[in-house]
Amino acid sequence: LRVLFATSELAPWVKTGGLGDVAAALPPALRAAGLDVRLLVPAYPSLRRAFTGASVIAELPSLGGELPAARLFAADTPTGVPLLLLDCPSLYDRPGNPYLNGDGHDWPDNALRFGLLSRVAALLGSADCPLAWQPQVIHCNDWQTALAASHLHYDDRPRAATLLTIHNLAFQGIFGAHLLGALGLPSRAWAMEGVEYHGYLSFLKGGLQHADWINTVSPCYAREIQTQTPEAGMGLDGLLRWRSARLSGILNGIDTACWNPAGDPHLATPYAMDALDGKADNKRALQQRQGLAERSDLPLLGVVSRLTEQKGLDLLPPLAAAIAALPAQLVVLGSGEHRLEAAFRAMAERHPGQFAVSIDYDEALAHQIEAGADIFLMPSRFEPCGLNQMYSLRYGTPPVVRRTGGLADTVIDCNPATLADGSANGFVFEHATAEALFAALQHAVATWQRPADWQRLQRNGMARDWSWNDPAQRYTEIYFRLCGVAQPLPA
Ligand code: ADP
Ligand code: GLC
Repeated sequence: LRVLFATSELAPWVKTGGLGDVAAALPPALRAAGLDVRLLVPAYPSLRRAFTGASVIAELPSLGGELPAARLFAADTPTGVPLLLLDCPSLYDRPGNPYLNGDGHDWPDNALRFGLLSRVAALLGSADCPLAWQPQVIHCNDWQTALAASHLHYDDRPRAATLLTIHNLAFQGIFGAHLLGALGLPSRAWAMEGVEYHGYLSFLKGGLQHADWINTVSPCYAREIQTQTPEAGMGLDGLLRWRSARLSGILNGIDTACWNPAGDPHLATPYAMDALDGKADNKRALQQRQGLAERSDLPLLGVVSRLTEQKGLDLLPPLAAAIAALPAQLVVLGSGEHRLEAAFRAMAERHPGQFAVSIDYDEALAHQIEAGADIFLMPSRFEPCGLNQMYSLRYGTPPVVRRTGGLADTVIDCNPATLADGSANGFVFEHATAEALFAALQHAVATWQRPADWQRLQRNGMARDWSWNDPAQRYTEIYFRLCGVAQPLPA
């Protein structure tokens, strides 16, 4: 089965969050499951530099409206997944973040940039596909490629099936109505059953309306987004309920080669479930690197996150004094909203040697925190899936999380019953308040002080299979169902 995985991010070359990780790890898992998957990504400078040997395989004329002409380059990724690079220098040859300019504002032509990406994905799934390789499924990811489903919906000829994965409903790709023609959409797309959304043009709404199947990245988030609350349904809950027969949740996996405490090149000392001793070395190395007191007798709390409203990290600075008095140490790595960055900086200044804050994006330090911290914090207001809590589970660093989305699907609260049945792997709290977070923290620290219970918790998290094998199987089932072909029985 031939699948085109269309994405605006691809780790390690272009990544602002989990979508980049998923695009790097799910396609190889699908190939291992026997599918012919290829990636379609804009030829950002980082990708052009990484794949200098890429060769032109198609010249694309303007595909309507104001979409500029473009070219497709072909290359092979190190994981063996073929890569189609969409080259259009006027839209993609810019440094830095794929969505924002140097001042942190959206690129003013984002509608055209991702409008072209969507349009080209649709072209490859249409009767006009210029390649010998014709995908049977177009797998769209988030608003940036959602419009491919709309283009194909308005194409009356035989076409590929479409799957739209929602990684985050908060980002919807909303633009002015005047862009309809510029993006090459037919005028009949301007309708409530089309791309129109409260007088604007919404990429995500169009995709949700028209995709043959919709999924999101955890079963719990799939239910939450169908509820009418601002942080869950985000205004699209009605449409999602209407589409609920073709909406499912598939929990993400993690790249278990890249995130493996037994073979992680970023760590001071490798360790594993049956050899947890090495973890203490990593704690010491992290304390040294971050200028914390080398105290093995204090629990070290860790955070790696975008600093945004979504992640609930505004709950942490008000708890600074209480955390210091627990006593516990805290190490934070993140960047994002300036007000949160400032709050965290101030917190570290007030508690030198006890709290360390790096306002940065640092892949190596992220690994070192997952390994060196004792307890990982992720108090998200909403979380479609979340990868960091899975990394921390795999690294024997039990997470404290709020019961939402993928956090609710992966973290089992520690209590006498779950400890006894071997399912406990972390700490879960209900309400997005500083009090509730602190109560869960206290519970975590008290458990950390009981080494036998703590090790059971660590092992429960480390023992589970967090890989992409099972999720890839579920995606495969959807692809086959969409194509109406019987799925071959697993060998
Ligand atoms: P989201 O995509 O909502 O940000 P996820 O947990 O799915 O959340 O994925 C976040 C990814 O980005 C993880 O791979 C995480 O390690 C990484 N990450 C986030 N912030 C940083 C940072 N400051 N430095 C390094 N990696 C980070
Ligand atoms: C989004 C979500 C995150 C999820 C990631 C990958 O960025 O915020 O929860 O893990 O996508 O699907």
